[in-house]
Amino acid sequence: MNSSKLNKLINEDKEYLFQNYGDRLPAAFIRGDGSYLYDQDNKRYIDLFSGIAVSSLGHANKAFLKALHGQVDRIIHTSNWFLNPEQIEAAKLVSETSFPGKTLFVNSGTEANEAAIKLARRFGLSVSPKKYKIVTFTGSFHGRTFGAMSATAQEKIHKGFGPIVPGFIYCEYNNRKAFKKVMKKHKHIAAVMLELIQGEGGINVADQDFVRDIFEQCNQNGVLTIVDEVQTGIARTGRAYVHQHYGITPDILTLAKGLGAGVAVGALHAKSFLSEHFPRGVHGTTFGGNHLACAAAAAVLKEIKKKPFLTGVINSSEYINSRLKKIKQRTSYIRGIRGMGLLIGVEIAEPGAQFVREALEEKLVINCTADNIIRIMPPLNIEMKALEEGMDIFERLILARGEKYENTRN
Ligand SMILES: Cc1ncc(COP(=O)(O)O)c(C=O)c1O
Repeated sequence: MNSSKLNKLINEDKEYLFQNYGDRLPAAFIRGDGSYLYDQDNKRYIDLFSGIAVSSLGHANKAFLKALHGQVDRIIHTSNWFLNPEQIEAAKLVSETSFPGKTLFVNSGTEANEAAIKLARRFGLSVSPKKYKIVTFTGSFHGRTFGAMSATAQEKIHKGFGPIVPGFIYCEYNNRKAFKKVMKKHKHIAAVMLELIQGEGGINVADQDFVRDIFEQCNQNGVLTIVDEVQTGIARTGRAYVHQHYGITPDILTLAKGLGAGVAVGALHAKSFLSEHFPRGVHGTTFGGNHLACAAAAAVLKEIKKKPFLTGVINSSEYINSRLKKIKQRTSYIRGIRGMGLLIGVEIAEPGAQFVREALEEKLVINCTADNIIRIMPPLNIEMKALEEGMDIFERLILARGEKYENTRN
């Protein structure tokens, strides 16, 4: 984009918008097509970011747009006072793709987790007046409302807000001994809540043994399991949900991001016995699960149910990983590669913010989390041509940065 147009946007952003996201990256996209984004000058970028794992079907996907246009033309919103066929259809699809249960639609990942926390507390308190504690893990991210933020075991997220919501116990992630200790020490635990891959925390993958221990101990002690799949859900890891890789079924599953492929929708899905703890009047939302949101969710879920869709995710993942392994052999700038499916973290030797900006200049949209983890999470149906081109740019830039880094150290 020419610099005067861009500067105008930068200045107006600062004048009219809260600056809670800091300086925005200097690009304004006005159009998308598959895994490509286009800026105001019609310059083409490759999207390996998907709007933080949201644009699961890429941009302007035909089947998705058809479902949305049809719905927009018919009706967008009534309210949860009325029956809603789109909501029922989307809920059925959530059950079919995960496990039989009941669904409550909300508007974001934070709200899905907020609802999960409230449901777990209502469940626990129905058993005993002290059973309301929820165990969460270091490095987690569950959202920004007070409950979800308090569940997030990261001090930097709590800072400056005064007292957070009590009742959360923080345990070290992937530490079986620490978890055993917590379960022994605390008698009144209502639920354990975790991400099986911590997305914002740096693509930290939960060990099979750790997860098995959690599920065994929770089942034995009448403690609910909540798996936050806001980032890992909806085929991101090559299965419909990451918990399926672990052979476990949580009591509560939370979803958002890829569920609406860009339309704001989140969901709490739970085993049916839990629905009695949300009787009339204890929880709700005006927008949650409106016709448009649920038409979007249903269209996405129908797409990911197709076997070739998941095979495509796995093939793209294998391609990226094989490229990354070869690049890693050529530079010690890459310290590690981790993740699953199309949620891949590349740990680099220094903070990644500059790399993200350099990539953008080269028309590659990519992200960094947890300071130095470059996060690769393209649309799930990314075309091989776009992926190859994207990885070529990635390789060139990472090798160049690696060389620079080595030179400054010698
Ligand atoms: C695992 C996880 N849970 C919850 C959230 C919060 O979701 P939202 O930003 O939609 O409120 C996020 C967002 O990054 C997330 O990654």
